[in-house]
Amino acid sequence: MLSMCRTFATSALSVMTVIGLLGANIALAAEGDIERGRVLSDTCEGCHAVDSYNNVYPTYHVPRIGGQSPEYLAAALRLYRDGDRSHSTMTAQASAYSDQDILDIAAYISSAVPPLTAVEAKGDAPEAAAVCAACHGANGIGEIVSYPILAGQHEDYLQQALAQYKSGARKGANAMVMQAQLMMVSEEDLKAIAAYYAGHEGLQSLPIN
Ligand code: HEC
Ligand code: HEC
Repeated sequence: MLSMCRTFATSALSVMTVIGLLGANIALAAEGDIERGRVLSDTCEGCHAVDSYNNVYPTYHVPRIGGQSPEYLAAALRLYRDGDRSHSTMTAQASAYSDQDILDIAAYISSAVPPLTAVEAKGDAPEAAAVCAACHGANGIGEIVSYPILAGQHEDYLQQALAQYKSGARKGANAMVMQAQLMMVSEEDLKAIAAYYAGHEGLQSLPIN
């Protein structure tokens, strides 16, 4: 698993980091076949390319996956496939995927919308977001590429995701990490944190390919 630092241009290490990022992109492009991924991703656009599209029961926006890190996209698809995360359409989509299919899809999505590396700071972070920033970054982009980017994600989707971790509906080692984080945070603070991260410019819907 790649664990490159995402932030750049802010430290003396920036040149090294940029080289690291380029290295990571090349490594990923080599792992995933973009053209194969493009074909496999056709069916995704009906939902992930329509920014206003809602899941029906319960009602919340379909997550924005454009600009998300390919490592996290692949991890999320594996969670659906392996039954650690459940959603009728996503489970159906992912159930037949091979590991290579998943890498190809992640490579295509990252070629259509390059993974975000930095976003502009916006608004004042709620105090309770300090604990989240350790992994998801002050503006919703953390240092570890396998952790999801939150900047610009739909607010109601973030709330839905947090409720799933809280209830234990999302499973797997990383979901347990998240669940533990939420123990000490009040519902009110979680709402404020979701609004804060959603308020950044960042993730976007997929383009129609
Ligand atoms: C019918 C609509 C629909 C279609 C088609 C669809 N998705 Fe999704 N997708 C969703 C919804 C809704 C969620 C959030 C589900 C949940 O709460 O876990 C989601 C979640 C995801 C996630 C996790 C996002 C995150 O931030 O954790 C990924 C990755 C994803 N979809 C990729 C795809 C890919 C790739 C395809 C095509 C092969 C696809 N989806 C097709 C509706 C759809
Ligand atoms: C120790 C690191 C860590 C900390 C601290 C942390 N997270 Fe996470 N977070 C993760 C990881 C890893 C995942 C992916 C979990 C999985 O596999 O489902 C995640 C997933 C999420 C998701 C789901 C994103 C999506 O696209 O579905 C949300 C929302 C989230 N975290 C919000 C928060 C909030 C809010 C806080 C602070 C209260 C927080 N996290 C603290 C590591 C962390």
